[in-house]
Amino acid sequence: MSAVRRPLLAANWKMHKTVGESVAFVREWSRRVADGWALPNAAEVELVVCPTALALAPVAPLLDALGVGLGAQDLDVGSEGAVTGGVSGYLLAEALATHVIVGHSERRRLFGEADGVVAAKAAAALAAGLTPIVCVGETEAERQAGETKRVVTGQLRAVLEAVPAADARLTVAYEPLWAIGTGRGAHPSDASEVASWLRALVAERWGAAAGAVRILYGGSVTAGNVLGFWQADAIDGALVGGASLEMESWLALVRTVAPTPPA
Ligand code: 13P
Repeated sequence: MSAVRRPLLAANWKMHKTVGESVAFVREWSRRVADGWALPNAAEVELVVCPTALALAPVAPLLDALGVGLGAQDLDVGSEGAVTGGVSGYLLAEALATHVIVGHSERRRLFGEADGVVAAKAAAALAAGLTPIVCVGETEAERQAGETKRVVTGQLRAVLEAVPAADARLTVAYEPLWAIGTGRGAHPSDASEVASWLRALVAERWGAAAGAVRILYGGSVTAGNVLGFWQADAIDGALVGGASLEMESWLALVRTVAPTPPA
């Protein structure tokens, strides 16, 4: 964890939870807080929850009351127009989203999102006032072939070319595909090496401003292994799938990275 960048812990609920279940989850969290479960100091860690698109607006006021950010999981490029089924960054912002995940490997794989599309989405997110969490990562085969750096370089360079100027909101999540949902997280030192590489790529283009860009790790993060990533200087937080879905595992994660409740 660096001294200059505020760490970010983000929950990616993917296509889990109905709208009702999403609201119930945040209500239950709020009840725990009212009963004395101390939220971490916002200066210590930024928390963000990314529910399904339909749940954004209903959970927005509840998360806001907790001081927790609201993230979408995808956006479309552009502001409005003939895009059947599309949801723009402006619509997400209107639903009070503050963040948006861009280029998650599931979007790349299941929806055929190429690097150029992901890059355009990252730029569109920034233009709409959102903080993009851009995901990059290699497959198991690419890792075995020693191609991790080559793959993430292509993915990130496309984004850096599309974003017009240095922007500290840009957030990158290194999510190796083989670590997602497998229970087999990356070793913190390997993730850290890739995170440093990614920052160097940002610095190549943005110079010293790269120092403000947060680089997260994602892939089988739990309360049991999160500290390994949290303690790495090059890693500025985590993007969490499975362990964010249940109240107990989520609260355990939050408490692990922010053990000292505010006085
Ligand atoms: P898991 O934490 O379930 O491995 O998911 C990671 C992920 O894809 C977060 O975006």
